[in-house]
Amino acid sequence: MPSILILGATSDIAQAVANKFASQNYDLILAGRNLNELERIQKDLIIRYKVSISIAEFEALALEKHEDFVAQFNPLPEITACVFGYLGDQEKAQKEWNEAAQIIHINFTAAISILSVIANKYEAQKYGCIIGISSVAGERGRQSNYFYGSAKAGFSIFLDGLRNRLFKSNVHVITVKPGFVDTKMTFGLPLPKPLTAKPHHLGDAIYKAYLSKTNTLYVLWMWKWIMLIIRLIPENIFKKMKL
Ligand SMILES: NC(=O)c1ccc[n+]([C@@H]2O[C@H](COP(=O)([O-])OP(=O)(O)OC[C@H]3O[C@@H](n4cnc5c(N)ncnc54)[C@H](OP(=O)(O)O)[C@@H]3O)[C@@H](O)[C@H]2O)c1
Repeated sequence: MPSILILGATSDIAQAVANKFASQNYDLILAGRNLNELERIQKDLIIRYKVSISIAEFEALALEKHEDFVAQFNPLPEITACVFGYLGDQEKAQKEWNEAAQIIHINFTAAISILSVIANKYEAQKYGCIIGISSVAGERGRQSNYFYGSAKAGFSIFLDGLRNRLFKSNVHVITVKPGFVDTKMTFGLPLPKPLTAKPHHLGDAIYKAYLSKTNTLYVLWMWKWIMLIIRLIPENIFKKMKL
């Protein structure tokens, strides 16, 4: 049976990915730091799908445990989706380093640490697919979220480099760049409806991107063009805008 390891499996987007892959007969390993919630999600998925679904404890910030975490899987699922992330509080991060550090270390340091271990395994076995959930926020720095945005920018560049390195080893890397998504992370934020995806849109789009070996996936499609325009605005104009 094909299988997928989902890191940050309690996330709303991760649950949509889990549902989609399980519906296509993929076995799942759901990894996260909240075991009670993982068990609840596991039970729900077991009722719906006839695939094997296991759970594993994973604290992204425990970098020193990443090697052992990966070593426990034999074989390692041939797909890994790195979904965990932390939006954080931009204003708090401007004043308190701890908040800034959380944003940087969860979205960037932890993600590149765990994926580096997995990349080495996939490279050695000469197959595998890494799916990294980055963000359009990483495409241009804005005053309202530049801690999160810069961490995601770093993550996107890391994924680009990994794709380039692993191509010759038959390992594919997908960078997912969602715009707004209606999840716990954005709960209460005033998101424009036409530009806001539901988690199941991501589940479907990520599965398609996996089949078609897409390199960079924007969800919804208009975000690709929105970000193109945003990137093209000259800095002298951009810096005066309140974004
Ligand atoms: N929602 C959006 O508009 C949007 C847009 C672009 C990109 N994204 C990205 O999409 C991904 C999924 O986000 P979401 O919207 O589904 O948000 P979410 O439901 O809030 O999920 C965030 C996930 O990250 C996990 N997490 C945070 N810190 C962790 C840590 N130290 N160790 C292990 N797991 C940790 C959380 O685990 P707990 O349940 O234990 O807290 C949760 O599973 C993130 O990478 C996010 O940056 C989201």
